[in-house]
Amino acid sequence: MTDQRTLVVIGGTSGIGLRMAQRAAARGDEVILSGRDADSAAAVAKELGDRARGIAVDLSRPGEVAGALAGVEKVDHLVVAAIERDLNTATDYDVARAVNLVTLKLVGYTEAVHALLPKFGADGAVVLFGGLAKDRPYPGSTTVSTVNGGVMGMVHTLAVELTPIRVNAIHPGIVGDSPFWSVKPAEVLDGYISRTPTGRLATMDNIADAAEFLLRNPAVNGVNLNVDGGWLLT
Ligand SMILES: NC(=O)c1ccc[n+]([C@@H]2O[C@H](COP(=O)([O-])OP(=O)(O)OC[C@H]3O[C@@H](n4cnc5c(N)ncnc54)[C@H](OP(=O)(O)O)[C@@H]3O)[C@@H](O)[C@H]2O)c1
Repeated sequence: MTDQRTLVVIGGTSGIGLRMAQRAAARGDEVILSGRDADSAAAVAKELGDRARGIAVDLSRPGEVAGALAGVEKVDHLVVAAIERDLNTATDYDVARAVNLVTLKLVGYTEAVHALLPKFGADGAVVLFGGLAKDRPYPGSTTVSTVNGGVMGMVHTLAVELTPIRVNAIHPGIVGDSPFWSVKPAEVLDGYISRTPTGRLATMDNIADAAEFLLRNPAVNGVNLNVDGGWLLT
């Protein structure tokens, strides 16, 4: 058996998902990455070389996900990293935005796994992306905290049901060089750094490295892994 694999990244046109796609392509793996728009996803994939291709998948429309993934023939590793951020509070609750993110991250993530199940081999593995807003809410994180908590339960049930396919999740803290955070004012990032025991924020490569460990280690299953430099302890 060769070390080369097929990696599917749902939410692979940007940020951590893209970094995982880049790293896999550089290793010589076949990569299928998705965004909501087919042309944009294809353009991003083209930058990764001949063994990468881009497809359109919108997880906020779960009824269309199976059709969107029908052309995927084989999966060794699946990463589901998609997010549309929702700033929401219970005091001033925007139901439409909340429904969109809950649909995307809870129903959409599960449907992506479901739709690809027949394409997995026995040593297949899945990594889902949650986030530490599940434990450490911030103003406006009502929906984000809720869905990231939901990812924990999703991992537990899928790891048991889908055996021998392994299912784990990464829960990043603040990823300082990600597109969302890297444009924030320095004083905002410094506030997080000062509360992080390592004295630095996690990078996209740190997160990708941890996710690759979850994908490759045959004994790791049903794990919700925090990758945050010890931020939760302060
Ligand atoms: N960045 C952080 O510091 C951080 C912290 C904690 C947790 N996380 C989690 O880590 C994951 C990756 O975060 P990120 O910041 O790297 O992401 P990002 O740069 O914001 O990229 C989001 C990705 O999701 C795709 N996407 C957006 N809406 C979608 C939809 N409706 N259906 C399918 N795909 C959709 C985007 O593609 P298009 O725009 O091309 O459609 C893009 O590829 C997320 O699950 C996030 O919650 C990140």
